[in-house]
Amino acid sequence: MSTPQNGRTVRVAAVRGDGIGPEVVDAALPVIAAAARLDGAGLEVTDLDWGGDRLLRTGTAMPDDALDVVRAHDAVLFGAVGHPKVDPDVSVWTLVLPLRKGLQLYANLRPVVGWEGIETPARDGAKVDFLVVRENTEGEYSGIGGRVHQGTPDEVATEVAVHSRRAIERIARVGFAQARERGQTLTLATKSNVARHGYGLWDEVVFGLGAAEFPDVALEKLYVDALATRMVARPESMGVVLCSNLFGDILSDLGAPFAGGLGMAPSANVAPGQDGPGFFEPVHGSAPDIAGQGIANPLAAVLSGAMLLRENGCPQGATALERAVGEAVRDGAARTRDLGGTATTAQAADAVADALPRPVAV
Ligand code: NAD
Ligand code: IPM
Ligand code: MN
Repeated sequence: MSTPQNGRTVRVAAVRGDGIGPEVVDAALPVIAAAARLDGAGLEVTDLDWGGDRLLRTGTAMPDDALDVVRAHDAVLFGAVGHPKVDPDVSVWTLVLPLRKGLQLYANLRPVVGWEGIETPARDGAKVDFLVVRENTEGEYSGIGGRVHQGTPDEVATEVAVHSRRAIERIARVGFAQARERGQTLTLATKSNVARHGYGLWDEVVFGLGAAEFPDVALEKLYVDALATRMVARPESMGVVLCSNLFGDILSDLGAPFAGGLGMAPSANVAPGQDGPGFFEPVHGSAPDIAGQGIANPLAAVLSGAMLLRENGCPQGATALERAVGEAVRDGAARTRDLGGTATTAQAADAVADALPRPVAV
């Protein structure tokens, strides 16, 4: 699928993963390539068979030099992990987390946008436009912990949440910059009333940075429990939500219905200020309940592709792709079952491709 024009090529490592991962990535790639052409760019795709099947076949979900392999690309487009024959924690800790962490992609951006014509729980759905900025390297995902006295009544497990000043500062800068660019309030979600050490540090660092470097950006703090209520009751009032790894995981799934569901929720794992590829993936998982049926919604993957294009010098393609999604869901052609339609995965992606403007001939 290499159609470089004007000599510009975006090198994409495609990691399809498990379940509906391959289905949505296969459907999304040609649409993303078509959109890239609007910027005179071509996609050069490397297909990587990483995931549960490879793990079962060879003993590893990805090769030892996986990080070097993906670093030879401009971006990774990822499907999902979660294989019926592999323990879920093994799936997660052998592929997606090592890639996000290994590439030091410390910022996970998860936009939630209401689409015209798509019914959601929001009163004024089309006005919803918020962004979850999730710390992506530590917190509750540190991997530190253990179990003792296993299987006995005295069994104890620990799961250590790590919060470092460095990681909070760098993600806070991303949150402030996003809030400034979008003209929205930055809402810090913590739980410092209880977890006062870790989240106390979050409060201190974020408010300190705000006063010192971003005095023009409106900043508020909500405890994450109260924030969850506000997100559901008044999603139109949310701007940029800055949070730790686990809170961001939960809040982005909580917000997804306001975009039409998990099938409409894209994400970008990026590291502003750092070289190397970003990692773009739907928020959803491998959806074992619908895998293999050709009915998964590919639009979260397509919209992740739009984020990939924007991050890789294809702003026109990115915007056109988002508009095409809007048009194709409005007129119904791109609505899969989760959006109340009957389109298959392939038909939904085709409908988006049909809604793209044609590239200007040179
Ligand atoms: P899930 O996101 O896979 O599915 C939740 C529900 O949403 C299911 O009913 C599913 O059918 C539906 N859904 C998800 N994506 C959809 C789409 N594109 N179109 C239509 N419907 C869609 O979450 P889960 O069931 O909690 O997890 C399943 C597996 O996926 C687990 O192994 C989990 O660890 C893994 N997972 C992986 C990722 C990832 O790779 N980034 C994310 C979340 C979950
Ligand atoms: C997500 C997923 C992942 C996460 C898992 C699969 C590691 O739930 O991308 O939201 O918790 O980050
Ligand atoms: Mn999640």
